[in-house]
This record gives sequence, C-alpha cells and structure tokens, in this order.
Amino acid sequence: MTKILLVEDDALLMELMANILEEEGYELSCAPNGKVALDLFVASRPDLVISDIMMPEMDGFELLRSIRMMPAGITVPFLFLSARTERSDVTLARKLGVDDYLFKPFDAPELVEAVRARLDRRRTLEIFDTRAAHLQTVTMLANVIETRDPYTAGHVERVRRLALNLAFALDWAPSDLAILEFGAILHDIGKIIVPSGVLKKTGPLDEEEWKLMRQHPQAGAKMLEGVDHLRPAIPYVLYHHELWNGNGYPFGLKGEQTPREGRLLAIVDAFDAMTTNRPYHFCISAEEGLAEIEKNKGIYFDPDMADMFIRTYKP
Ligand SMILES: [Fe+2]
Repeated sequence: MTKILLVEDDALLMELMANILEEEGYELSCAPNGKVALDLFVASRPDLVISDIMMPEMDGFELLRSIRMMPAGITVPFLFLSARTERSDVTLARKLGVDDYLFKPFDAPELVEAVRARLDRRRTLEIFDTRAAHLQTVTMLANVIETRDPYTAGHVERVRRLALNLAFALDWAPSDLAILEFGAILHDIGKIIVPSGVLKKTGPLDEEEWKLMRQHPQAGAKMLEGVDHLRPAIPYVLYHHELWNGNGYPFGLKGEQTPREGRLLAIVDAFDAMTTNRPYHFCISAEEGLAEIEKNKGIYFDPDMADMFIRTYKP
C-alpha cells in the first residue's frame, strides 16, 4: 500500500486531509511538526510527504532539508501545502528540492491530483532507473564472456543493435523490445561452460569440443531461469542456433516451431559472425553478408524476417 506522511499543526485541517487521502486508498501517518515527522519518516519510510511550512519545533523548510540529506529521502516526492504565498518562500522551497507547492485553502481534487501525479512520476523514474542498472549489470556479465572469446569483441553490442533494429522494423511491441535487449546481450552467456582453450582455438573443433559448444544455449537458459526479470529473455538464449530447415541445435526445431525470438536472433547473430573475423573463417563485407542472408532465407532463416533484415539493415 502506498504510504503518505502528513505534517500539519492544525488538527482540523490534518483530519480533513487525512480523510480525503484515506478515501483514495493511501495509508497515512500524521505528525504535528517537523520533529515528529522526521522520526516517523525514518520509521515508516513513506512514499510521499505532504507538509505545512509554519509549524512549531521544526518548520517545513527544516524538515525538507533534513529529509533530502538522508539517502532514503533524496528522491521521495515532497509537497508543500501552505498559506504562505510570498515568492521568497516558493524560491527557498524549490532550492531545497520540493516537488510541488500547493496553496491553502486547497480543494480535494487538486490535492488528490497533485499526489497522484507525483507518485506516478516517481514510479516511472524508478522503473527506468532499475532497468538501466540491470542493463549495465547484464552487459558487464556478457563482456566477461566476450573477453574469454577474443573473436567476438563487440559482438554483443552489435547483435543488440541489429536485433533491436529488426524487431522495431517488424513492429514488435515496446515491451517485447525491452526484453529483446536483455536476450540479445545475454544470448551467448552459456559459453561460460566452454573452456577458454576451446573458445580461443584457431583450428577446427573436434567432436568433444563441438559437443560442449553446442550445449551453450541450454546452459545459458538454465542460468537465466533463476532470475525473475531475465526469465522472459530465455527464448533468445535457448533458440538462437535453431535453423529454419530443422538442422540447428539444440532441438532441431523447424520453421515456426522455433519461437520468433530465436528466429530473429539467428539472423543477426549469423550476419555478425559472417562479417567479423572468426577463427574458422575470414570476414566478408556487409553487402556479401546480406547476400548470404538472401541466399539462405527459407533454408536457414525465416524468409519474412530475412527480407525485412535485408531491407532495413543499417551499418
Ligand atoms: Fe551462440
């Protein structure tokens, strides 16, 4: 439940505001001055603070200043509700990092709307921040694999970009694109089970080594199973070596039996592999790479996706 800390020395006004907000489904804690509010803030970790300015013991400015100095209080939405309309008060409030400044007397819809807007904004920012942090962590993880495999330098980043372009061109939903980024970055994470001697080998792999190499999609999928926000990216990891004609691995799925995530990644992964130096072949140009995709559409690659990739490829 969303918690709001209400700070107001006028008991009647406090009760009025509490009633309005409780009716909206918020959980309230109330304080008659800044000092009590500060203790309550530490104890109850509210999601938003609404405070009067003129109060005994500790005024609203001092309260805001103290809250903004605490790590838990840096980003918490803070609203002033005050009868003071002097420009200097508003300026000081802004300087201290207030999120909104409402004037008394207030009306109920105005208060409710201000609270809702601030909470929505905070939630959006939180999701964005968390996502950025996850992407960075995951990229770091993928880079660890890359450094063990010297022939794939930059591969993860290029695959991410190419996959994103293709999915965008195919009109995939924005929420799917968000998962795709994780999938594209992590597609080869299972290579952690392949010894670096095998990854760095310049000659052809023997049967044992290939067997190990071909286990990387399943090994990667298993790693992601235990992480809630990465689990939706498993199809990218698990199916990126399946081929349209059924000759891929690990399952030998044919055509649309392979989830679309795998079919999409197979194209961009193969294209990037062809156009970069690898131990077992020299790279070809982007034009030649696109010609290879064209030649193999309907054989290795989903023909519709391959067409779209060729049409919309950006270097
Ligand atoms: Fe792979």
